[in-house]
Amino acid sequence: MSRATRKLDHIQHALSTGQDLTHGFEDIMFVHNSLPEVNLEHINLSSQIGELTLSSPIFINAMTGGGGEKTRLINEQLAEVAAQTGIGMAVGSQMAALREEKQCQSFQVVRKTNPKGVIFANLGSEATVEQAKQAVDMLEANALQIHVNVIQELVMPEGDRDFTHMVSRIEKIVDRIEVPVIVKEVGFGMSKETVETLASVGVFAVDVGGFGGTNFSKVENERRQRRLDFFDNWGITTTSSLLEALYANANIHVFASGGLQNALDLAKSIALGASAGGFAGNFLRILIDKGQEALIDEVLQLEEDFRYILTALQALNLQDLRQKPLVICGDTYHWATQRGFD
Ligand code: FNR
Repeated sequence: MSRATRKLDHIQHALSTGQDLTHGFEDIMFVHNSLPEVNLEHINLSSQIGELTLSSPIFINAMTGGGGEKTRLINEQLAEVAAQTGIGMAVGSQMAALREEKQCQSFQVVRKTNPKGVIFANLGSEATVEQAKQAVDMLEANALQIHVNVIQELVMPEGDRDFTHMVSRIEKIVDRIEVPVIVKEVGFGMSKETVETLASVGVFAVDVGGFGGTNFSKVENERRQRRLDFFDNWGITTTSSLLEALYANANIHVFASGGLQNALDLAKSIALGASAGGFAGNFLRILIDKGQEALIDEVLQLEEDFRYILTALQALNLQDLRQKPLVICGDTYHWATQRGFD
């Protein structure tokens, strides 16, 4: 099966398996304030993440890898949404375009459509330094996402089986490319130890890609004869992953993703230490089912809702939001307690 066909399969199975919604956000509660003395008009949604400036804490996370006309079209539409709303956007894996030059236009269209936007390139951890440079150049990207997706590869019938030297390859890329490197999971979450290892080799940010949204074990199991169902419930939820990153002994920025559906999930993510939140499956579903304009409306509504939430919490900006007290219950509480996060 060609890489492009496999990636289209991913889109279809990701849409049909849906979002698990076991991300843990229901375990996180804000403490209501009856006297929030702020004016909604004064709220600032921008996020400064080292050298990256995002005008909004929402970004479109990596989705369309592969190549071909369908990838080009989805990338163009997502880029148009990003351009019109001013949000950041990651592309899906560019490996196919590095292997076959004619696929490059499926990605170059993203920069062409959104010349001034914040765009993240994307490759897997098998990438070499040269490939990383090419992926960044292809998009004039502002940062590079390197995805780590061991469980997906294991369940994928034709997936990788050799995961040695991942960290040293990532370290080489960090040392040799000009833009910040973000290491991201794809829905299985990240532990404190993983975050600390990545920080120790100079990674700029992690995207925790937590469990509870798009489930790539289920997506890949749909493509197998003998299913590896035990991986369908494998992973660290998004809220527990955010706590893992928060309690890591590491100087590193954090992005939240994995099942984010609404502005409250995003606000909870920021309060748990994230600088921004990535939406993948939920946005793709809206784009495919309802079209580009519907996705633009969704982004604008998310921003409006986020402003209402910040007003209720008396937070003028993301830094204020991070200081707000939270109550943690349920499985996320038990996870945090047993992991010694108090
Ligand atoms: C993805 N994701 C992904 N991630 C990545 O780093 N490179 C990629 O090429 C892809 N491809 C891809 C295709 C499709 C169809 C989906 C839905 C997702 C993973 C994505 O960026 C994200 O980490 C997970 O989907 C979890 O977020 P959501 O979907 O729960 O918001």
